Amino acid sequence: MPKLGVLTGGGDSPGLNAVIRAIAKTAFQQHYEVIGFLDGYSGLVEERYMILNARAISGLLHRGGTILGTNNRDNPFHYPVEEDGKIVYRDMSDQALLTLDRLGIKALITIGGDGTLAGAAELAAKGARIIGVPKTIDNDLLATDQTFGFDTAVTTATEALDRLHTTAESHHRVMVLELMGRYAGWIALQSGLAGGADVILIPEIPWRIEKVAAKILERKTQGKPFSIVVVAEGVKTPEGNHVLRDWVEGSVEKARLGGIGQVVGRLIEEHTGIETRVTILGHIQRGGSPTPFDRVLATRFGVMAAQLAIRGIYNVVVRLQGADVSYVPLEEVVRGTRKVPPDGQLVQAARAIGISFGD
Ligand code: F6P
Repeated sequence: MPKLGVLTGGGDSPGLNAVIRAIAKTAFQQHYEVIGFLDGYSGLVEERYMILNARAISGLLHRGGTILGTNNRDNPFHYPVEEDGKIVYRDMSDQALLTLDRLGIKALITIGGDGTLAGAAELAAKGARIIGVPKTIDNDLLATDQTFGFDTAVTTATEALDRLHTTAESHHRVMVLELMGRYAGWIALQSGLAGGADVILIPEIPWRIEKVAAKILERKTQGKPFSIVVVAEGVKTPEGNHVLRDWVEGSVEKARLGGIGQVVGRLIEEHTGIETRVTILGHIQRGGSPTPFDRVLATRFGVMAAQLAIRGIYNVVVRLQGADVSYVPLEEVVRGTRKVPPDGQLVQAARAIGISFGD
């Protein structure tokens, strides 16, 4: 029986299991076997895998996370190994290719963000046959109009804003909600719009505390002594620095952002005199059941990826363009980050209804 391999890499994103399920179901129809490598690239390097048979993929559509496991550190070209009690980094890409050869895998479907897909492009350059599936809650990949997981993250963030609204109003407070998204403001912008934020701070638009405070005080004079402020984690401090919560050695993207919400909250209190509370939503945005939109997009990506693998079209990444799923060369995804256009329609619509970006 011909075989396809699949792995999930990088931070998890609601809909990963739906992609795995769609790949396997499409492959079974063509009498293919599907092997799932465990824990991202480490399963490929260390030859750890599970057979994704009909039983293994049952009940996956609505399940968050990934049954294969993932990690956002391991890269086969810079792989952590223990030598003399110390962790050193070695190029283990030959080992990864050997695993594919030994198991007789026709093509490897790699579901991941820019780090994972950059690794996939390097493996492809060394001869691996790869189909990429773009994934991230951040929605910041150049190759695709939208990634699965983003809609779920926005839904979760919007629910949080709805809850913060009622308590903000009762206590006449400012509520700051810090959201994920790395260096792009998509989650903050979309959920800020959906959740009725008064101020949205995103990395793409430089902000000043005086402008933020003016908006909040203006609302107070209008008889609305509470405000909701959404801050994307990639926003810089007034001094021009990112706030880091962690530094992960060995990871493609070492900096882990987090904490700018506290900085913004403190400054708001100082400049307005209004009691301010800060919530950092964190990994809750990555968890839970995917929305129907994400289940459908994930399924379409999985079907297309399996069909390409079966047809022998390699080293491409599937993507959504407008309403259609198609594919582009793998290198396309590796070229940079898709940012919010500061004068795009979404920002314009937000400004038109009085939302401040602090500029
Ligand atoms: O890329 C997805 C993401 O959730 C980002 O929004 C966030 O900055 C990062 O991953 C968090 O990474 P970790 O799970 O390593 O803390």
